[in-house]
Order: sequence, then C-alpha cells, then structure tokens
Amino acid sequence: MDFDKVIKERRSVRKFHSKKPNWRHIIEAFETGLQGPIAGNISSVRFILVDDPVIIAKLTEASQQDFVAEASYVAVVCSDPIDTIRSYGKELGEMYVRQQAGAAIENFLLKLVDLGLAGCWVGAFDEEQVRSALKIPDNIYIEAIIPVGYSIDKSPRKKHPSLDRSIYFNKYKMRFMKPRKEVEAL
Ligand SMILES: Cc1cc2nc3c(=O)[nH]c(=O)nc-3n(C[C@H](O)[C@H](O)[C@H](O)COP(=O)(O)O)c2cc1C
Repeated sequence: MDFDKVIKERRSVRKFHSKKPNWRHIIEAFETGLQGPIAGNISSVRFILVDDPVIIAKLTEASQQDFVAEASYVAVVCSDPIDTIRSYGKELGEMYVRQQAGAAIENFLLKLVDLGLAGCWVGAFDEEQVRSALKIPDNIYIEAIIPVGYSIDKSPRKKHPSLDRSIYFNKYKMRFMKPRKEVEAL
C-alpha cells in the first residue's frame, strides 16, 4: 500500500469483526516493528502474541476496556532494558528502551494497516494483572496491549494536531521562517 495511504488509514480501532486474522500476518507485523531505530542497535523489544481466550479475558479485565475482548489476537509489547541500561546507564537506558518501544509499536500498527488489519494501542492497564496473566518477570517493562483484528469500527477518524500549532523554526515557539537576510541581521 502507498506510504501516505497507510499513514492516513491508521487509526485506533475498537470494534473488530469475528473473523480471525491469519497469525502469520501478525508475525510479519512484529518483524516490521523490529525495523525501527534502536539506541546502539541493542535489542530490547519483545512481543507476546496471545490467542488464548482465557488470557484475553484477563487482559480485558486488566485494562477495563471491553473492546479488547472482541479481538481474537492480542499483541503485548514489552521491553527488556538490561543490555541498554548496561551500555547507557539507568536514566538514559530506561528512556531509550521506552522510546524505541514506541517506534516499534508505531511500525507494528502501520504494518497491520498495510496487511488490511487494525489495532489499538492500549496503554491504560493494571500492570500487575498483566504481569501475572502473562508470567512476565518483574524486570521487564510492559509497554502496550494491542488488540488486533479486522476493523468494523465506523466511528470517524480523529482529527490530529495541526501543523501550524506543532512546528517552529530555528527556535522553540518561533512560528515563522524569517527570510535569510533578516535572520543574518539579528
Ligand atoms: C501511549 C498511548 C496510550 C494509549 N492508551 C489507550 C488506551 O488505553 N485505550 C484506548 O482506547 N486508546 C489508547 N490510545 C490510543 C489513543 O486514544 C489514540 O491514538 C488517539 O486518540 C488518536 O486516535 P487515532 O489513533 O485513531 O489516530 C493510546 C495511545 C497512546 C500513544
């Protein structure tokens, strides 16, 4: 699919068709997730693919978001920070693994769209409940729960922030690009 079309078509889907996706497509999207930038190229992102309805029910309970239960697959994204922290120290290492998890999640969500699938980044959940449902060790960060399926969500696409409110030139809050001569005269 065309790059801009994938970007524009990606949206958070909270209603899924009962048809089960091909799990190979989700694995393919994980592979795309792992192609994002990574500090020092040190691996930290881990994916768990869940199709056990009992576990999906526990994830639904942990997030208190009923639509999670509609999906026949739920991807859980985690980070193992140990090697990144060893290389960059605790503060930077922790920040880097969180940032690269975000990059991986976005890549994953975009590839789902490319494959005709959809998902929703669920970040609000009871961490201990998710940890216990999936037997995730205490040293592993839980980044997101992503129900995956075929969209039947007819709600309108959200309006995203406008460019003119989000972009500055040369300095923070500078809303205009000054003609070169004026900048040099400053
Ligand atoms: C860090 C993060 C956490 C989020 N957590 C939730 C969540 O718990 N439940 C939910 O329905 N959507 C969640 N979302 C999705 C946002 O609500 C959604 O991306 C936003 O409203 C923009 O809509 P769009 O994704 O359809 O473009 C989360 C998104 C991010 C980036």
